[in-house]
Amino acid sequence: MENIYIETYGCQMNFADSEVIASILQQAGYGMAAEAGEADFILINTCAIRDNAEQRVRHRVRELRALQSRRPGLRVGVLGCMAERLQSRLMAEEDNVSFVCGPDAYRRLPEMLQQVRRGQKAAEVELSTTETYDDIEPVRLAGNGISAYISIMRGCQNYCAYCVVPYTRGRERSRDPETIVREARTLFGQGYREVTLLGQNVNSYAWENVGFPELMDMVASIDPQLRVRFATSHPKDLSDRLLEVMARHSNICRCIHLPVQSGSNRMLKLMNRKYTVEWYLDRVAAIRRYLPDCSITTDVIAGFSGETLEDHEDTLELFRKVRYDYAYMFKYSLREGTYAWKHLADDIAEEEKTRRLNEIIALQGEIALENNRREVGREYEVLVEGESHRSKEQLFGRNSQNKVLVFDRGDAVPGTYRRVRVESCTAATLIGRLVQ
Ligand code: SAH
Ligand code: SF4
Ligand code: F3S
Repeated sequence: MENIYIETYGCQMNFADSEVIASILQQAGYGMAAEAGEADFILINTCAIRDNAEQRVRHRVRELRALQSRRPGLRVGVLGCMAERLQSRLMAEEDNVSFVCGPDAYRRLPEMLQQVRRGQKAAEVELSTTETYDDIEPVRLAGNGISAYISIMRGCQNYCAYCVVPYTRGRERSRDPETIVREARTLFGQGYREVTLLGQNVNSYAWENVGFPELMDMVASIDPQLRVRFATSHPKDLSDRLLEVMARHSNICRCIHLPVQSGSNRMLKLMNRKYTVEWYLDRVAAIRRYLPDCSITTDVIAGFSGETLEDHEDTLELFRKVRYDYAYMFKYSLREGTYAWKHLADDIAEEEKTRRLNEIIALQGEIALENNRREVGREYEVLVEGESHRSKEQLFGRNSQNKVLVFDRGDAVPGTYRRVRVESCTAATLIGRLVQ
């Protein structure tokens, strides 16, 4: 039997896709190698969102040459967003890559691997308007047996000016809700206690008369012991209807990831985000009204085209107003093919981008620590996930707000819910004690 090894970079959707890829190839008779050095095929599932994401992959591909010279039969393929973006160009530039396969072509992998085995190169990068892999039962790869991803839609057509995703993932399409509910129910039966519904913009989920709020209602109704999370929601379509459904189900987690990207209306318009700061703050107010204990997290980009110091100050000001519990913070990276690449100059100097980014990071660090200090003394229901990285005597889990709590193990068991009282904190972690 030949073995495959999959390495995954990028967003949660890529991790979910790798589980689909593993399933397709297992069905075709391939085994899973425990490490890269034991594989016949290494598949690198890649991200193209920023240049540094691509550079990491290029570096890894080149590093694999050494392994290939020790193991002459070993073939390397590049999958995912970078494969879609660069297509055969990638094989010309990295000559140890034997195949490239885009995100909608994974069903062709068994054929491609055979072709490659015969010494040919292979490229499949056609995008689809219908592929959702809804009949494929993902192989849970990095799973802890407690928490799993479920992909509910694919693609994105929001065309934010800076973003490559609409080009690498194609048109938006939703997956049949029955297959989603079935997958969640199966996971619950297997002992999973948390599912995260994934899409680039989950609020655009639409299947006949089932929208995202209705889908959430269906999944949350499977069992009160099954936690339901989702990512990502675009601020322009975060509806009151969704917040109502969340408020009705205490097992829908109190955490909303609401990427803002910038605190300046001028930048938001240039970015084609289709909302204003005022609209965004109104949505934050709606979240706090329906779900007073909900945490809010975000993504932000520093140094987008033409960003002035005033625009940057507006972003800092927005961070002070919203007081995010967590933020993913990035420097703007120009992506070939996007609207910004065609029409807007990448005109903020690298050092200045870094300076602005560091300012946001420092501010957010203070806010996260202050937020966490307020948690001291509170008690939460925690889904216990496993051993803490620091000590075998301690376990960790997350509360509904998605904050990590670390506590002395006592009689707690991973995969169960326990009450934990917060006793101290850092900016990233709450430290607590089991409540008996
Ligand atoms: N669909 C999600 C985001 C997916 S990409 C959404 O719209 O919210 C994750 C994040 O990467 C984005 O929210 C954005 O903050 C960042 N990002 C995307 N393109 C980028 C670029 N060209 N440069 C820097 N950051 C970028
Ligand atoms: Fe990119 Fe915008 Fe789509 Fe998010 S919504 S994936 S940022 S184009
Ligand atoms: Fe990256 Fe593609 Fe996800 S570009 S962020 S892996 S959709």
